[in-house]
Order: sequence, then structure tokens, then C-alpha cells
Amino acid sequence: MKVGVIMGGVSSEAEVSLNTGREMLNHLDPAKYEITPIVLTKREELIDEVKGIDLALLALHGTYGEDGTVQGTLETLGIPYTGSGVLSSSLCMDKHLSKKLLQSEGVQTPDWLCWSSMEEFSPEAVEQLGYPVMVKPCSGGSSIGMEKVSGGQDLLSAVQKAFDYDQSILIERYIQGQEITCSILNGELLPILGITSAQAEWFDYSAKYKDGGAVEQVIKLSPEVDERVRAAAFTSYHTLKCSVYARIDMLLSDGIPYVLEVNTLPGMTMTSLLPKSAQVAGLSFSSLLDRIIMCSLE
Ligand code: DAL
Ligand code: MG
Repeated sequence: MKVGVIMGGVSSEAEVSLNTGREMLNHLDPAKYEITPIVLTKREELIDEVKGIDLALLALHGTYGEDGTVQGTLETLGIPYTGSGVLSSSLCMDKHLSKKLLQSEGVQTPDWLCWSSMEEFSPEAVEQLGYPVMVKPCSGGSSIGMEKVSGGQDLLSAVQKAFDYDQSILIERYIQGQEITCSILNGELLPILGITSAQAEWFDYSAKYKDGGAVEQVIKLSPEVDERVRAAAFTSYHTLKCSVYARIDMLLSDGIPYVLEVNTLPGMTMTSLLPKSAQVAGLSFSSLLDRIIMCSLE
């Protein structure tokens, strides 16, 4: 089978994507696949690059990659690709819409506000939400453009920064708790990992990608909490119409899982969570890729 590993792209997570792609290339078995790395720097390159492959293995993250655009192009070209479809990819990329949908299905998610312009932005509304808050680009990833804000004095600069990355921003009530992550592969939940950032106060870019930036370990939960976390993970996965694989990030506070976001193309770098979770389940990186490829072709 001719597999094109599509990576790079134009999002703020392009560097993470190159690392995801590199790891995938390192672990694809050349005895099984005829592998073509496809490094995108411009959107238009995709159409020329993908002709002649049997499957696009998506190592992309963020806008024009994880958000349904590339998936739509591949659908149009009739080229199978890995992971979730167009609608699910778009929904999961938009934190405001996905949180609304999750909330409507009874999934807990931190209270939030969303703005699409600086002119409409209201510091008073944030005051009412209650500090501290997390300020995020609505469709961001890898914590890029994200800040924790503890009071009004730092709010505007954080909001401006988030707007530098996106046309809409999200401000979420900060939940003090344990960061956990649930990876679903082919309808099964892989071992749940708890995340402890080494130095950072929260799981920011350097904690995510710097070697030793965080410790991720299988977390022991009481049966009751485990059941709640599983239910939140599967409800999120199905509500947002994910397929093949996804990673659901949560904060666990007083035994309640609060879903932060669903990642349809989760990182697959050397420090990323889904490959670690798969490893604990006895699945090597190469076997994980085989599984993703097989399930995407079903
Ligand atoms: N957005 C990054 C790649 C992740 O979720 O792993
Ligand atoms: Mg994300």
C-alpha cells in the first residue's frame, strides 16, 4: 500500500506536526508500506502531492489540517485518510461549539465565554465568571496563544494574544484539579493517563513537548470516578462524531471530570500522550499506526 504521510502545513502547530510526522515515518514498517513523506508549506500543494497514494496518513495539527479542510479535499479527491471525517474534525476544532454540544449531552465542561471581536469583549463578564481564568484561541492547539489569568490587570494582554492566533477566543473558568487524558482507539479506551507538569503551573507548550516537561502515568481511579471518566470520554467521542481515534483531555476535580477538548488528530511526537497510552496497553508505536491505518480503511 502506498501511504503518504502528510505533515507540516500552515497552522501554529506546524512544528508539532513535523515532529508527529517524523515519529510516524520512524515507526511505519517499510516492509508493509511504500512510504511517501508529504511536507506541506502551502495549502495548494496538497492536491498535487497526494495523487498516486492509497492512503493519506495525517500527521497534521490545527487549522488547515485537523479542522476538516484537508479531510474535505481528500474526500473530494477520493483518497482515503486516517482519523475522523470532515464534520467531526470541524466541530472538535471549534472549542466553543464542541463545548456547547457536550454540555447539551450532560458532559461537564468548565464554564466559559466566547468572543469574536475585541470591540465586543467585556472584562465585566469575565469578572462575573470569576478569576482565575484560562484565555485561549477558540480553535487553537498545543496551548499556543493560551494564558492563565488571575486578575483583571493581566486580562487584556492575554486576550490580545489569543486574538493574534484566532478570530474567536474562549475564556474558561480555571478548574483546580488533576489533568487527565483519555485516548480512544477503534472504540476502546486506552489506559487513562494523569499528567503532572514538572515546572509549569499547567500543561503548557514546554510541559507538553520539552523532554522531562511533564510526567504522564497511568492514573488509579476509584471504580466510581473511573466510570464517570469513561462515560465522559465515550459521550464526547460519540457526540462529536469521532472515528478511528481521538484523545479527550479533561480536568478531574473532586471526582468530577470536566472535558476541556477533543483532539481528532492528537500529537504523535516522542513526548505525546496517545502513543504513551498505547504503549501501556502493549501496543508499540508501529502497531498503533497499523491499527489507525486498518481502521481508517474499514
Ligand atoms: N494539538 C496537539 C498536537 C495535541 O493535542 O496533541
Ligand atoms: Mg488540542
